[in-house]
Amino acid sequence: MSTSIKSVMALEILDSRGNPTVRAGVELEDGSWGWANAPSGASTGVHEAHELRDGDPARYRGKGVLQAVEHVRGPLAKAVIGLPARDFQQVDRAMIEADGTENKKRLGANGILAVSLASARAAAASAGAPLWRWLWPQKKKLLPVPMMNILNGGAHAKNNVDIQEFMIIPRGVGSFGEGLRRCAEVYHALGAILGEKGMGSGVGDEGGFAPNLSSDEEAMDLILRAIGRAGYRPGEEIVLGLDAAASEWMKEGGIYRTPKGGRVFDREELCSYWEGLAGRYPIVSLEDGAAEDDWEGWKLLTRRLGKKLQLVGDDLFVTNLRRLERGMEEGAGNAILIKPNQIGTLSETLEAVKLAQERSWGVVMSHRSGETEDAVIGDLAVATGCGQIKAGAPCRSERVAKYNRLIEIEFSDPTRRFAP
Ligand code: PGA
Ligand code: ZN
Repeated sequence: MSTSIKSVMALEILDSRGNPTVRAGVELEDGSWGWANAPSGASTGVHEAHELRDGDPARYRGKGVLQAVEHVRGPLAKAVIGLPARDFQQVDRAMIEADGTENKKRLGANGILAVSLASARAAAASAGAPLWRWLWPQKKKLLPVPMMNILNGGAHAKNNVDIQEFMIIPRGVGSFGEGLRRCAEVYHALGAILGEKGMGSGVGDEGGFAPNLSSDEEAMDLILRAIGRAGYRPGEEIVLGLDAAASEWMKEGGIYRTPKGGRVFDREELCSYWEGLAGRYPIVSLEDGAAEDDWEGWKLLTRRLGKKLQLVGDDLFVTNLRRLERGMEEGAGNAILIKPNQIGTLSETLEAVKLAQERSWGVVMSHRSGETEDAVIGDLAVATGCGQIKAGAPCRSERVAKYNRLIEIEFSDPTRRFAP
């Protein structure tokens, strides 16, 4: 049956922060159908593909996406109708050419990504396969380890904490479901501890608790206590990861200033700060420990900590093959965060993953702080066998949707295997 694209539709829907985003639907000649929603960041990297917003203050405080929706219905639909959805690279190329800019500024990466993913889902539906298996038809299935963000700060929370994400990562578990259970238990233990201390139970954009704290150390002390209270050995059964999102901190000339606490570091001091924390706490992964354009800072960080820690480039690489290549050449980082909407198409996303995997770099599939019920990153994590996923706390349905999708995938086939 033909997987030719017959029609493309789009809607302006809402994300988990109540801001508009794009949903696209793609219908094929054989009657198969796929849909996808674009997510949206808050600590957005300057090198990301362009998220097109209307800027009309009379609607959604300027955040409407009606232009992006119109571009899907108009020029993007025109570019892809008649193409075989099964050849998703060709579909993506057609949209990239229709846009014609370096960063998808003209038609909007939000609309382009939604069509790209919806079209791939339609092709998978046509083949009678779930997206993950359609993308990766090999036998073995590798479920990712959750890097679960249970305490939120930075741009994701209205508290006084400068580090954006404090994550727990299970070790040595036999299945995705088992790792998820442990993390959820620690999350509840943390909630109970914060409750006892009268520290409130408000959560940030990714569902992690968002208390006011005296220091980054206090956050990790509380998490270690929660791990213990849940019955696990910190540092052995559960380890820690941080996302500093330090692009939000960078000021001029290699000087960092934390926006909430007002602490000031030069590059060496910042590296020493991370080194100190990694010496005192069971941290295995540090994301955006330096800012997106601070290649010097990144190289220094990698020289000093690259053997000990997974150093994940999020704003630094923005899921962009060229920036990843530069990082590899210059020795900046040793792992990449993968957010499909940073680059704007499925095929470009998979290219970045492929290069990282070929060079044995770490790969972490990731949600955005603004999300929807679309759990496509669960499929992409398994399809790429990337081994790690960030999908937030076990709280807020847009986060839980990703975990539930992974449970579904884990139990959909008896040949499952868990990432080490
Ligand atoms: P964002 O945050 O979606 O707000 O960019 C997620 C992250 O920094 O990893
Ligand atoms: Zn990040």
